[in-house]
Amino acid sequence: MPKIISGFEPLAIKTACEQLQKGDIVALPTETVYGLAADARNEEAVKKIFAAKKRPAFNPLICHVHPHFDLKDYVTLSSLALEFIEAFWPGPLSLVLPLASGHPIAPSVTANLPSLALRAPANDIFQSVLQNFGFPLAAPSANKSQGLSPTEAEHVFMSLKESDITILDGGASSVGLESTIIDLSSPSAPRLLRRGSITKKDIEDKLNIILTESLSPNKEGKVASPGQMLQHYSPNTPLRLDVTTPLEDEVWLSFGHSSGTHSKELNLSPTGDLEEAARHLFSFLWKADQFHANSIAVAPIPHKGIGIAINDRLKRAAQQVK
Ligand code: TXA
Ligand code: MG
Repeated sequence: MPKIISGFEPLAIKTACEQLQKGDIVALPTETVYGLAADARNEEAVKKIFAAKKRPAFNPLICHVHPHFDLKDYVTLSSLALEFIEAFWPGPLSLVLPLASGHPIAPSVTANLPSLALRAPANDIFQSVLQNFGFPLAAPSANKSQGLSPTEAEHVFMSLKESDITILDGGASSVGLESTIIDLSSPSAPRLLRRGSITKKDIEDKLNIILTESLSPNKEGKVASPGQMLQHYSPNTPLRLDVTTPLEDEVWLSFGHSSGTHSKELNLSPTGDLEEAARHLFSFLWKADQFHANSIAVAPIPHKGIGIAINDRLKRAAQQVK
């Protein structure tokens, strides 16, 4: 059974680093979702992540780094990569970069691809662990493969009940959606692989570039990011999307002003604030599941700003093909 300890106690950082050094896995908070971390240089430790999540071995992991690390030990940095780092790190943005020759990253982390996804999380607890540990930590979201992402320590506990891991509790994640992923393995053709709170427009406006989208497998079934499964982020209860009139026995995930007359209503943001809705999305889906209703009805969410990423997650969560 997992053990939850407060990540704000100074001893927690020491405990986490000792366990990582031993080759154990530890769940840590980030601003996006909780991550399940292992020493990225230790193949046996990384394999424990895949086993705990029941994650297919073809799906590579994101490595988390401290902004002070010398990244050239791990990847080749183009000038565009440096511009992305300067503009958006630390923060909810992962960059897929060519692996450097002589790098120490364990082969399972990259699923034997020639590229590595890197991200510097903006979370004090995770950053302290990285600073004390001194090396990159491979960390996918700390949930069962294809299940709901965890934005609170309790979600990790529920998802990974049978694993004897330590979870550092850092409170609710402040963003609530996984990082935006950009593929820079070919710097002349940057590609958006996963939507997140940093939008395509944010990036294009800030860096004065054009991003192509590569968000799902193409017609030949070729996948740019191995984790682009259509079904993902799913609660146990079936979801119905873009519902304006929920059924009486459904859980109702509403958005914006509502009459408040539905008996099982969870309002993602009564004021219609998309950032607040993103922060609440996964935790409300976790709560909605606990009602054990026949279905969960979700109100239409505007397709603008972070709402685009919210709709992406909802669409994948609603797929029921297992
Ligand atoms: O916000 C986040 O990114 C969270 C927190 C914990 O940092 N992590 C996360 O990891 O969402 P995960 O494993 O659930 O999703 C990682 C995604 C997968 O879709 C994977 O296929 C993709 O990143 N990925 C990792 N390495 C890649 C690579 N070399 N090339 C293409 N895609 C890659
Ligand atoms: Mg995930």
